[in-house]
Amino acid sequence: MIRSNLSGLRGGNLSADQRERVYQADLTLKRLAPRLQVFWEQMSVDPQLQHEFEVRLDEHWYDLFGLLYDLYGARYDFFYHLEQILITAALAWVNRPDDLRELDQHRMNDPDWFASQKIVGGALYVDLFSENLGKLCDSIDYFKELGLTYLHLMPLFAVRPGDNDGGYAISNYRSVDPRLGTIDDLRTLATRLREAGIVLVLDFVFNHTSDDHQWAQLAQSGDLEYQNFYYIYPDRTMPDQYERTLREIFPTVRRGNFTWHDGMQQWVWTTFNNFQWDLNYTNPAVFRAMAEEMFFIASTGVDILRLDAVAFVWKRMGTNCENLPEAHQLIQAFNRLAKIATPSLIFKSEAIVHPDDVVKYISPRECQISYNPTLMALLWESLATRNVTLLSRSLSHRHSLPPHTSWVNYLRCHDDIGWTFDDADAAALGINAYDHRQFLNRFYTGQYEGSFARGVPFQENAATGDMRIAGTLASLAGLELAIEQGDEEEKELSIRRMLLLQGIALSIGGIPLLYLGEEWGMLNDYDFVKDPAKAGDTRWIHRPKMKWEFLQELDDTIGPGGGSIRRRIFRSLQNLIAVRKNQQALSGQKMDLVHTGNPHLLSFVRIFESYRLIVLANFSDQPQSVDGNRLRTVGLGRFFKDVLTGQEFGTSEDIELSAYEFLWLLRI
Ligand code: GLC
Ligand code: GLC
Repeated sequence: MIRSNLSGLRGGNLSADQRERVYQADLTLKRLAPRLQVFWEQMSVDPQLQHEFEVRLDEHWYDLFGLLYDLYGARYDFFYHLEQILITAALAWVNRPDDLRELDQHRMNDPDWFASQKIVGGALYVDLFSENLGKLCDSIDYFKELGLTYLHLMPLFAVRPGDNDGGYAISNYRSVDPRLGTIDDLRTLATRLREAGIVLVLDFVFNHTSDDHQWAQLAQSGDLEYQNFYYIYPDRTMPDQYERTLREIFPTVRRGNFTWHDGMQQWVWTTFNNFQWDLNYTNPAVFRAMAEEMFFIASTGVDILRLDAVAFVWKRMGTNCENLPEAHQLIQAFNRLAKIATPSLIFKSEAIVHPDDVVKYISPRECQISYNPTLMALLWESLATRNVTLLSRSLSHRHSLPPHTSWVNYLRCHDDIGWTFDDADAAALGINAYDHRQFLNRFYTGQYEGSFARGVPFQENAATGDMRIAGTLASLAGLELAIEQGDEEEKELSIRRMLLLQGIALSIGGIPLLYLGEEWGMLNDYDFVKDPAKAGDTRWIHRPKMKWEFLQELDDTIGPGGGSIRRRIFRSLQNLIAVRKNQQALSGQKMDLVHTGNPHLLSFVRIFESYRLIVLANFSDQPQSVDGNRLRTVGLGRFFKDVLTGQEFGTSEDIELSAYEFLWLLRI
C-alpha cells in the first residue's frame, strides 16, 4: 500500500501555499492509490516490485504532482491524464527487464557514477560507422582499444523517406530504421555494450516528430485529437504574431518557423525542417504519449537519454519561445517519472544556447549532464586568436556546476559550431562580440588571411549576416590545408592543435566526448552533395564514413612518432585516454584556473579529494613560458612530472612549452 504520507514535507516550516500543495498532492495520491491497486492486481505484480515502485513514488510524488499541476492543473481533464501518467510509469517498471532493474539498484547506490575519470565517450552514426547494429556489435573491441566507456549512437529509429535531418525526423520511436536493424538488434547491442563496460546513450527527440509519424498522419487526416498534438493554425494570424519575437534556426530551409501544409490547408509550427513538426506540450496527452515513448526507449537498455533541442519545447506568445520556465518544468517532470520508474536512467541536455541558459537545464532534478557548447566554441576561439583570455574569463565563472551533475566536453559533434559565448564576457575584455563573431566566421571558413581552417558556412542568414560553421576537427585545425599545400611544418602544427584541444577536453572536468573519426584526423567529406537528401545541409561535410582500412596503419613495428599521420593521431589519443583514466585528480568537475601571466597559456588545477593535477597548455604556435613559482603554490610542490611524457620540471625556473604543447603535471 502507498503510505500516501508526505511525512518529510509535512513536518517542516512550510508556507501556506506549500501546505496547501502538500494537502492537494496527498489527497490526489490517496484517490489514485486504489486505481493503482487495480493495476497491480490485474498485472499480478510481485509484491516486492510493487513495494519498490511505491517507495519511489512516495519520495517523488510531491514534486511530480506539483510540476504537472503547474503545467496542466487548469485543464478540464487533468485528473484523467494524471492517472494515465501514473499507470504509464507503473507499467514501465513492471515491464522493465531484470538486468536493468539490477542496474537501477546499483546506480541508486552510486548516483555519481558518471563523474568517474574512467568515463570517456564517443558518438557515431551507425550507418556511417559500421553499416548496421549487428556489425556495430563487432566493433566493441575497437571501442575498448580506444578506451571508450560511453557510446552515443545518433538517432537510429524509423525515419521518413528522403531527408530526415540525420535521423532527427522520427516516424516511429518504437522501431529501428530497417536499414540499421531491429529493436531486438538494439537490445542485443545494449546488452553486449553493458557486458563490455560501455554505457549506451540514445536520443530522446521530444520536441518534434516527423511529418509521417502516426500522430502527424492522423492530424493530416483531419483527426482533431491529433491535430492538438501539434501547433496547427488555419491562417497567418497566430503565426505572424509569434514570428515577431522568434529566431530563425534553419533560415536557409525556409523563412520563419511555420510551414504551409497543402493537404490540411493549414500552417504547422516547424522550428527546424519543414518536415519536423513541433509537439504541443500544452496538451497533457502529448506529455503522456511522449513519456510512453521515453519509457520504451529506456527499456531497450539505454543508460543516458540525450534530450534533443530542449530549449524549444515550450512556446509562449511574445517571447522567443526558447528556454521558457515551462520547458524546465516539463523536463523535470520527465526526470521525476524516470526516477520513479527507470531510476538508473539519466538525462543529458542538448541546449546550444547562451551560456546563462545552458546551465539552467543542469541539475540532478532536471538534466544531470549537459553538452558544454561554450567551452567548445571558446576552445576554437582560442585557437584562432592564439589567446586564452576570453576562454579563461568564461571558465572563471561558468565551469562550476551543482553537485551530482557533469559537463560533457566535446570539440566537434554532428552539428555546427555557433559562437555562443556571452557578449558581456567579451565586452569586459574590450572585445566587440559582433565583430569577433564575424572574425571567427571568416577565420573558420578560411577567408581570413593566414587562416589554417577549412570550414564551410552552415545556415548563412543573408538578412542578419549570421552563420554557423561546419567542418571536421582535422579540417578546422588545419590538416586539410596543410596536406593540400604539402606543407610538412603545417601538418605538424595541425596535429598538435588537435591533440591540444583533446588534451583540454580530456582533463578540464566532466565527460570527454569524441565524435568518431577524430581519432584518425578525418577530413571534410565534400561528397555529401551527391546525395540529394543531404546536399542542402552542410553539416554532412563533417559526418564522414568510417574507413576501416585505416586500422592497417596501426602497425606496431613502427617506432613512436613514425608512420602515418592517422596512426600518430590515433595512438596519441589512445594514450591520452589511457592516462586520463589513471588520474584520479581528473574525476569530477572541480577545476581552479591558474594565472599564468601569459595570454597564450591556459592553466588550471584539477582537484579530487587529495589528488591534484595541473594542466598547462600553449595555444600559440610559438614557444611560451611561465614562471614555475606560479605552479608551486597551486600544485603544492616544488617538482612536477608530466604524466604524458615523463618529463620532470622544477618550479625554481621558468617552464617552457613549445608550439601548442600541453602538460599534465603531477607533484613528485
Ligand atoms: C538537435 C540536433 C540537430 C537537429 C535538431 C533538430 O539540435 O542535434 O542535429 O537538427 O536537433 O532535431
Ligand atoms: C540550433 C539549436 C541547436 C541545434 C542546432 C542545429 O543552434 O539551438 O539545438 O543543435 O541549431 O544546427
